[in-house]
Amino acid sequence: MLANRYSGSPGRWVRRSSEFDARLIYQECGSLTVSEIRIAAGRGADLAGRLMGLSRRREPRFEAVELNAVVRQFDSRLERLVGSSCEIRRDHCTEPTTLRADPGMLKQVLMNLAINARDAMPGGGVLSVRTRRASVDDQMARVRPDARAGPYVCLSVTDTGTGIAPEDQSRVFEPLFTTKKEGEGTGLGLATVHTILQKHGGWVDLESEPGAGATFELYFPAGTDRG
Ligand SMILES: Nc1ncnc2c1ncn2[C@@H]1O[C@H](COP(=O)(O)OP(=O)(O)O)[C@@H](O)[C@H]1O
Ligand SMILES: [Mg+2]
Repeated sequence: MLANRYSGSPGRWVRRSSEFDARLIYQECGSLTVSEIRIAAGRGADLAGRLMGLSRRREPRFEAVELNAVVRQFDSRLERLVGSSCEIRRDHCTEPTTLRADPGMLKQVLMNLAINARDAMPGGGVLSVRTRRASVDDQMARVRPDARAGPYVCLSVTDTGTGIAPEDQSRVFEPLFTTKKEGEGTGLGLATVHTILQKHGGWVDLESEPGAGATFELYFPAGTDRG
């Protein structure tokens, strides 16, 4: 059984568990094998910490990829995940969106964001997936510690769902932070997204208002010339 601990304000829970739904973890934690999850689960307490540790240790297999191509490859999966309940809008940049990335990890990020968007729109809505190029100038790089001035490619996933309360927006990337019921969430989806972005030298921006949906915008350094 999952053990939940009420974290203080209504409707917000931090999951403390000795046992997780291995299927959800397999889906969201990326590149962890079912047997690794079982071994971690078998050891009792602090499962989530070990799972996050395992996925942090997993190094990306970098290659030159087109973000647009990876998003297109994910499209049939996206249809299956959210297409029956939501309208999907696609806005793909017409210029090259080349970056150095692990394509499997990019799909993992898309999957975790799509699952969250679907869950946030139980009565249906619109999911938009957009790619674009951006550039970070010196001023922005000074404000944002993760950023270096230069070209980026951005992937944004927007939904028209429930939105996220301001006080939760800084917490949603923490491992185990979830507002979902047992068996519906692990609290590891966005923590995994955050880890993957860090490994790619990028970052995630979140914009949301309660009742007005959410946008996750992911910045990846563009080009293939980094060591
Ligand atoms: N698109 C979204 N709309 C509204 N809330 C979201 C969205 N994405 C994430 N959240 C909030 O962030 C929490 C953490 O997300 P995540 O790490 O994926 O864990 P989980 O989905 O298993 O709860 C969710 O429980 C939910 O409260
Ligand atoms: Mg999730």
